[in-house]
Amino acid sequence: DKGAYPYYMLKEIDEQAVVARTLAGHYFNDEGEIVGIGCAIGDTIKQADRLYIIAAGTSYHAGLVGKRYFENWANIPTEVHIASEFAYDQPLLSEHPFFIFLSQSGETADSREVLDNIKRQGFPTLTIANVMNSTLTREADFALPVLAGPEIAVASTKAYTAQIIVQAILAYSLGEVELDLKQELAKVAVEIQAITDEKATFQAIAESALKDQHSAFYIGRGLDAAVALEAALKLKEISYIQTEGFAAGELKHGTISLIEEGTPVFALLTQAKTAGLLRGEVAQVAARGANTITISSKSLARPDDAYVLPEVDELLMPLLAVIPAQLIAYYATLARGLDVDRPRNLAKSVTVQ
Ligand code: M6R
Repeated sequence: DKGAYPYYMLKEIDEQAVVARTLAGHYFNDEGEIVGIGCAIGDTIKQADRLYIIAAGTSYHAGLVGKRYFENWANIPTEVHIASEFAYDQPLLSEHPFFIFLSQSGETADSREVLDNIKRQGFPTLTIANVMNSTLTREADFALPVLAGPEIAVASTKAYTAQIIVQAILAYSLGEVELDLKQELAKVAVEIQAITDEKATFQAIAESALKDQHSAFYIGRGLDAAVALEAALKLKEISYIQTEGFAAGELKHGTISLIEEGTPVFALLTQAKTAGLLRGEVAQVAARGANTITISSKSLARPDDAYVLPEVDELLMPLLAVIPAQLIAYYATLARGLDVDRPRNLAKSVTVQ
């Protein structure tokens, strides 16, 4: 039931703060120790020399962020693969691979195909899914819940942030990390709430930047490039504005030729190491007439940025940076008079290959 909300998508965007708290409560005890992950999962992963994350669409984008936690916090090399590609072009695997399937529905046919192949090869598997009694959770060796609650809108929002959080917790449980993740997730929840409370700001950005546009771009570097892919998918799938998300350094290798007077270019700027380079790329597209809309984090902000995000641990910034993109996609779609929850040609769960 969407209650007072006009669309499920808006309700699900708003639920993300609660989901972050729910996950922290489920996976940590009062002392901040991890309790929600069985020893068997950790022991099996620790024997692996490489993780392979398999997913589709938004879940694939969540995997691109998760990779960073497994590499930075658990020190395990990690590859992220699109299920439909991996299924028919399996890359050369490491000696002791461990497979993680990420899915909201747990029913995505492309991912199921890979799971079948991998099981036949005898490698260990874990599914991280929102629907716990699903094919992918039942058929993998292990399963961890995403606990986002039912997601009805075709455009995935809370499942994305929840999948990122579960991966962060899992990676954290495998390594020795300085950070107090439980406390940091409490902060994430507070800040998600603060961002979702500013809907009018994102409505104004969406209406002024996107209402009559046919194309748009999202750029970023590092983790922001991963979020740019998800931000672009969100905008294109419901507003039908052709949107490309990509690593900002690639602009000069081709895409910059598409910039015209007024082309909206959203820049996500939350990673200190590459902030200077990204500022340069924003200036380059602005010089060619782009309408640049920069969403930056507090310590990297400049006065004319369109929106300044509150700050949490830099590796967790995707959890905040995606929220404006979700809301901008929502309001751009609303402004065009389209059905936000049910975009044409798409199904919530893609059960065919
Ligand atoms: O249920 P899954 O997470 O396995 O679904 C994968 C994709 O079909 C899904 O994320 C899709 O990309 C979303 N509709 C995007 O918002």
